[in-house]
Amino acid sequence: MSNQTGQQTLFADIPDTNMSAEKAPKIKEPKIKESKAKGPKLKEPKGKEPDEPTEPDEPKEPSEPKQKGSKAKLAVVNAESMAKKQREISVSEFFTKNRHLLGFDSPRKALLTAVKEAIDNSLDACEEARILPDLKVKISRIGQSEKQFTVTVEDNGPGIVKAQVPNVFGRLLYGSKFHRLRQSRGQQGIGISAAGMYGLLTTGNPVRVRTKPGKKSVPLYFEITIDTAKNRPDFTDKVIEWEKDHGTEVSIDLEGEYRRGQKSVEEFIKLMAVANPHVYLHYTDPDNQVTEYQRATKELPQEVEEIKPHPHGVELGILLKMIGECDNRTTSAFLQEDFSRVGPTVAKEICEKAGIKPETNPRRLESADVAKIKAAIDQTKIMSPPMSCIAPIGEDLIIAGLKKEVEADFYVATSRKPVVYRGHPFAIEVGIAYGKPGDTLHMTETGKIVEVAKKKTESDEVLMGAADEPVRLIRFANRVPLVFQQSACAISKAVINCNWKNYGLQQPRGALPIGPMVIFVHIASVWVPFTSESKEAIASYDEILEELRLALMEAGRKLGIHVRKGRKLAGEFKKRNYIETYIPHLVIALKDILKLDEKEAQKARDNLTNVLEKSRKL
Ligand SMILES: Nc1ncnc2c1ncn2[C@@H]1O[C@H](COP(=O)(O)OP(=O)(O)O)[C@@H](O)[C@H]1O
Ligand SMILES: [Mg+2]
Repeated sequence: MSNQTGQQTLFADIPDTNMSAEKAPKIKEPKIKESKAKGPKLKEPKGKEPDEPTEPDEPKEPSEPKQKGSKAKLAVVNAESMAKKQREISVSEFFTKNRHLLGFDSPRKALLTAVKEAIDNSLDACEEARILPDLKVKISRIGQSEKQFTVTVEDNGPGIVKAQVPNVFGRLLYGSKFHRLRQSRGQQGIGISAAGMYGLLTTGNPVRVRTKPGKKSVPLYFEITIDTAKNRPDFTDKVIEWEKDHGTEVSIDLEGEYRRGQKSVEEFIKLMAVANPHVYLHYTDPDNQVTEYQRATKELPQEVEEIKPHPHGVELGILLKMIGECDNRTTSAFLQEDFSRVGPTVAKEICEKAGIKPETNPRRLESADVAKIKAAIDQTKIMSPPMSCIAPIGEDLIIAGLKKEVEADFYVATSRKPVVYRGHPFAIEVGIAYGKPGDTLHMTETGKIVEVAKKKTESDEVLMGAADEPVRLIRFANRVPLVFQQSACAISKAVINCNWKNYGLQQPRGALPIGPMVIFVHIASVWVPFTSESKEAIASYDEILEELRLALMEAGRKLGIHVRKGRKLAGEFKKRNYIETYIPHLVIALKDILKLDEKEAQKARDNLTNVLEKSRKL
């Protein structure tokens, strides 16, 4: 590609290979044709199969390898012999080899990823259809195997229409969310199909799907496999009986490893319940133990609207693609119709700065003109995109979610107003659960200091550590828990960079603070900038780091007040205990000096205790 123009390089970089030659921008036409011929062979090669043995003038293997130092008979590699090896790579073949990119690198992680992808889809579908989600998740062993499991996730969502089912589960990069700018858990269209592909690869079994798209529709059962060479589904389907008004159930057999504790399916589900207090979830583990997660609210998250891309978020390659696909007659109309927050004045300003007439037909724009438009966009002040495309959880529900799953002494939450990074709205939310009940003190109205009763349950230990351990950080993106790659995540960086000593906690340099505490951090966005397709860590954009910093500081300040009060209380409790040991001796002395009877002595004892509590009230 090095000797080609920048424009062609950009086109080749665009992942969507659907761009047809007719639709491509009519810029420097002959070169586009050239790029078709010489560009990366992502499309079907015409004529002979690339690996067919042909060419009579094919270079012969040299009879005597004369090259210095080469002992083995190595074939001479040249353009022709290399050409024979070049062939199209289907996206499924690519991800079969690079399964770690999608979160299937170890059996343990694969099991969790499959559960996560299925839950994500169920929740996305339910919320989009405005149905309060009821989910059933089951993991069972296949036979007596400790290595093979069936993951089944059933929802009461809108179901999937017959024609779409095979593509949804048997084709990578196929989905309804990639092209829309609105908050959702899935975004690339490779979640559930990748899980199915991994299952097929490791057990040979197809994905099984039951679905019913509405009360009056016929329930259907599908068995689907993915043809990785073509990235197309193979399937069978039949009508079944299913006692359900609507919904979908997906079952995947896969090689996995089931373990409890940190980074387990249990922990993931528990975290999911924290960030999604509107969900009811029924979970059955491989030992047939059932855990139910009840809802804390019957209100669905606020409905999100789809927005058009904001000019500040568009990259040159995407801009070229958009221009190639648009059917507007003028550049001004293109800018106004294809972007959010661009009206006639802003469109005019962009065109003026780019030195292009607003009435120019966008198809006539040269690639250099498009680059100028991009530069002009960057220099133009444009109103932020509408924030209706994201639905943060909100302070009350963060606290409700935390209270539901983490037993603590103190809860606080901060939900920041949405802002924008590269044209994409996002909002940062932070919640804190602090102090294990039983380790904390409380002052009554009368000034008495009492210990808060211990109400420890086994599962609490998963989320909150001990007082001398680093705090537990729980990260979420669009309400999905992020379990892996904590250290690579912008959220962790922001938490570590925050000075927790200001809020009364100890913090080793460059590390998480120490204390009995859970820090909940959520980013809600139309396009979460993950560091990889497996969606495990957030990329460190400056705007995101800054919002994280502000949100953590806001929550930290509220925490600081509580921690300092707790410290004071503990100090006071110690002093009082000390004083209290002398009260009985004082009373004995008073009884003796003042000749008090038993009743009067008791009164003196009560009085002294009262004075102690009232005079030292904090
Ligand atoms: N349980 C479900 N109910 C309804 N639709 C679903 C369900 N699971 C998947 N889908 C549809 O299948 C598409 C592909 O899912 P997936 O491969 O996970 O990609 P993504 O979630 O990133 O779009 C989704 O966009 C959605 O339209
Ligand atoms: Mg998905």
